[in-house]
Amino acid sequence: MAGTFITFEGIDGSGKSTQLRLVSNFLREHGCETVLTREPGGTTIGSRLRAALLDANEEVDPLTELLVFAADRAQHVRRVLRPALAAGQVVISDRYADATVAYQGAGRGFDSSLISQIVELATEGLVPDLTLLFDISVRESTSRTMRRSNARNKRDRLDIEHADFHERVREAYLQIATSEPNRVKVIDTSGSVETTQGKVKAILIPFLRT
Ligand code: TYD
Repeated sequence: MAGTFITFEGIDGSGKSTQLRLVSNFLREHGCETVLTREPGGTTIGSRLRAALLDANEEVDPLTELLVFAADRAQHVRRVLRPALAAGQVVISDRYADATVAYQGAGRGFDSSLISQIVELATEGLVPDLTLLFDISVRESTSRTMRRSNARNKRDRLDIEHADFHERVREAYLQIATSEPNRVKVIDTSGSVETTQGKVKAILIPFLRT
């Protein structure tokens, strides 16, 4: 039986990770077993790649960055996602291939046909059944990531990119949603955590029942 593949996407500070935590608690309480995973870092080698990719002290060439995200994804698809889906599980991934289109394509400026080829190579055509795109203005997301970094850890290598980088990433995500409205659902996260969680559940619950 084929499982269900759901991804969460959005610019840094969009509230995606908080919502993912709440959703996973909710699903567990309701007896829906899910595999929670993420990119980069959903495998053991991937967690090492993640540390290198996000280290703010590391000077990573954009081509290297593109290829390492793709390497992380290839391992994730072949060793985690495909086996779990083949076993009929519901898999939720914190980021997936749309992030490469948005960050490396629009953010770094790689040609869209190169991005498509690399995404295809790494995913072997595995496309999510549903993608929740958490959307917020860059101004608000930046103030959230600043607050978060003041409260605990530092901002990572991509968090510290300029606002125009994050604007391009956001626009690219919204463009993906416009071109694939059946797969990608945009959720405005400018309200409270609870308001956003209500919107997430309104989309997810009926989807998981069908
Ligand atoms: P994320 O997991 O959202 O980190 P956190 O929630 O801990 O801040 O993000 C990891 C970063 O990696 C994020 O800035 C987006 C970036 N990224 C890409 O640039 N390309 C990709 O293909 C992926 C999966 C992530």
